[in-house]
Amino acid sequence: MCGIMGYVGRQEAAPIIIDGLRRLEYRGYDSAGVAIHDGTGLAVTKAEGKLARLAAVLEEHPLAGTFGIGHTRWATHGVPSDRNAHPHTDPGGEIVVVHNGIIENFLVLKEALAAEGAEFASETDTEVLAHLIAHEYDGDLLEAVRRAVGKAQGAYALVAMAKAEPGRMVAVRMISPLVIGIGDGEMFLASDVPAILHHTRDIVVVDNGEMVDITPQGWRIETLAGVAVERDTLEINWDAAQAERGGYPHFMLKEIFEQPQAATETLSGRLLDDGSVELEDVHFPDGFVEALDKIWIAACGTALHAGHVGKEVFEHLLRIPTEAAFAHELRYRNPLIQGVTLTVAISQSGETADTLAAAGLAKRLDSRLLALTNVVGSTLSREADDILYTRAGPEIAVASTKAYLTMLLGEYLLALKIGRDRGVIPPALDEALVRGLRSLPTKIEEALKTEEEVVAVAGHFVGHEDVYFIGRGLDHAVAMEGSLKMKEISYIHSEAMPAGELKHGTLALVTEGTPVVVVLTQRDLYDKTVSAIQEVKARGAFVIAVAYEDDTEVLKHADEALRIPRVHDLLSPVLSIVPLQLLAYHVAAARGHDIDQPRNLAKSVTVE
Ligand code: M6R
Repeated sequence: MCGIMGYVGRQEAAPIIIDGLRRLEYRGYDSAGVAIHDGTGLAVTKAEGKLARLAAVLEEHPLAGTFGIGHTRWATHGVPSDRNAHPHTDPGGEIVVVHNGIIENFLVLKEALAAEGAEFASETDTEVLAHLIAHEYDGDLLEAVRRAVGKAQGAYALVAMAKAEPGRMVAVRMISPLVIGIGDGEMFLASDVPAILHHTRDIVVVDNGEMVDITPQGWRIETLAGVAVERDTLEINWDAAQAERGGYPHFMLKEIFEQPQAATETLSGRLLDDGSVELEDVHFPDGFVEALDKIWIAACGTALHAGHVGKEVFEHLLRIPTEAAFAHELRYRNPLIQGVTLTVAISQSGETADTLAAAGLAKRLDSRLLALTNVVGSTLSREADDILYTRAGPEIAVASTKAYLTMLLGEYLLALKIGRDRGVIPPALDEALVRGLRSLPTKIEEALKTEEEVVAVAGHFVGHEDVYFIGRGLDHAVAMEGSLKMKEISYIHSEAMPAGELKHGTLALVTEGTPVVVVLTQRDLYDKTVSAIQEVKARGAFVIAVAYEDDTEVLKHADEALRIPRVHDLLSPVLSIVPLQLLAYHVAAARGHDIDQPRNLAKSVTVE
């Protein structure tokens, strides 16, 4: 976690860095700081709290200079405070460092430095890096950083500047993401593309184990061992405006309303008129699909919830056993990945440490690895054999919405492709799914029209501290995601479970007025789910159902219904999630929460 931003060029660095950090704040927001070099010396300003506090301090006490680095923090070592905020320097103020990730052996390094008399101003692992680099420094920052990181272990990205070398930034990537932005007589470094998109679309992705040497005139990458690396520039075609709120009160709401467009992008050019599925970066070897024994899905959080939908869809359409696993469990589970397997690693960012580790394990066990990810050039995409980009555009809100929905679409496309190659999808079903998929962007627009009813229903949740989401089959998979959305931004305790599970314990918690959200789209399971509604109604629950618009039965059982357009039951998650996203949003808004930056969370979890 944490966001890093660096700038060297002709313009004043501080405003550019603050602007970049603002776009990286989703990565962490408990404190922030900048270090600016004015050509003669280094000055550091930091402040606990959100970036706005730092910006206010800088407004009163500006820092002049055209070279600088900045950081927005999500605390790992040391509480959020001015003292622990980055950048950190050595005691002499010769070296300044910002860092994202964890230096695992920092205590050993710190004790060794302390034994030589070093004194530390913070509790962070980052300050140890500043000391180490200063210790190794003899006039060449690149070499000092190389020697220092040779002693450090962990997963991180760092950027350093030296007082004696104005205009030079040296960076290292060990797992945590880092991109270079190439300008005209100016250069940028950042944890993620949106930070620099306003300045340049020419991006170079730094790989693991690489060092970067940057001046306003150019960039150089080499390995930690000193071998020069050639790397192509990527042109990013995201619209910079997509990374702005564009009139919406929060990024989350904007991203929810971008879903019809995002869905169009995901499907575009992939479902061809002749009915074929064209996935441009998926190239299974001959015979692979026919021989496939098992599909593993590895992911965390919302991405795993998309994976649960994928499991149901793959098993239903392909009849291939599929397991959707928490990446953080899978990586330590000694899993039975054997035979001809495909591992689908799902990650919006493509940088989630646990998902990368599980993906790496699957590869070592000879599984083919497919990355279902949103971020072009992300670590996951670079490590995978096949890539299916979701094309959702930048997702800034911590609570994932359009990334989830486009992950679902990616899974349907993949299922159709594999199913056709295996010849297992009956033509009528295939045709119905293709028709259904094509209709989804318009139907998502329709589902967004539930907002007015959602606002009214949200009132029933605001005063409660416990809510439940239930459903069966695919509806349960969606209930899990609806519940996560609710808890992460409203801070209401929320649990999701299969509707049939309630009576095995949780029903004891349902009392007069307890809100229970029921997802009710699967025809085969309808009556069974209605039984669960009756069980909770009998205990006084207030039941809100998500149901098809033409369902004339639902209000005989539920107190309120949020209506979605009719679609093939297998595709319903793409629509039933929409009112649930809106519900979480409006409950959180009514409770007055910071929706885009919920407490204790960060967008990309790049630490274990
Ligand atoms: O970038 P990823 O998709 O790998 O992130 C995984 C989870 O951290 C993420 O989905 C998280 O659960 C969401 N932000 C919740 O809305």
